[in-house]
Amino acid sequence: MSFTVAIDGPAAAGKGTISKGVAAHFGFAHLDTGLLYRAVGWRTLNGEDPLEAARALVPDDLERGDLRTAEVAQAASRVAVNSDVRSALVTFQREFSRRPGGAVLDGRDIGTVICPSAEVKLYVTASAEIRAERRYLELSAKGSDITREQVLADVRERDTRDADRSTAPMKPAADAVLLDTSDMSVAEALKAALAIVDRALGAVA
Ligand code: CDP
Repeated sequence: MSFTVAIDGPAAAGKGTISKGVAAHFGFAHLDTGLLYRAVGWRTLNGEDPLEAARALVPDDLERGDLRTAEVAQAASRVAVNSDVRSALVTFQREFSRRPGGAVLDGRDIGTVICPSAEVKLYVTASAEIRAERRYLELSAKGSDITREQVLADVRERDTRDADRSTAPMKPAADAVLLDTSDMSVAEALKAALAIVDRALGAVA
């Protein structure tokens, strides 16, 4: 049986944490689609053409340790505007989403473009300041010397670019459940997401 959970939302909204928690709880596979764009962005920072980089992407590219930096995030959001780059990554994501046993995909356009018939669609968000603070703590724990102000500027710049692009702009699907985690702990946000998925699983059982 295939069962797809699509989780979208702006930068640093907590999609990754919720997706991993949902996947672990239900035994589903998880794909962080942001990593695909980060891996392409990383290759462009090393001089490659974005489209060639997207076409040449291999699973090992997603294992690189330095994909989570703010610099790579910016490069990712720049290549993500390119409709040919996006098309080159569609098949991999769709095949992943229908794998037997269930799949969780998180990104920006999963509920709208990649998996419009996903059984569950969540749009996870929080205020820009709260998202930036969470990302700042994450990056500084990893030894980055980026400032709070730089992280907030990065988050805002990417949100605007991601929402304003003409191909697959970031937005909630019409039938997505909105989850604003501004005033929620990680445990509370995960609990809310698990309850939504649980209900949907009950409906298809
Ligand atoms: O972790 P964070 O939310 O900061 O970013 P990410 O999910 O790793 O995505 C990095 C960038 O890739 C985003 O700013 C988007 O520009 C792009 N992206 C996209 O366009 N579509 C997706 N499905 C996932 C990411």
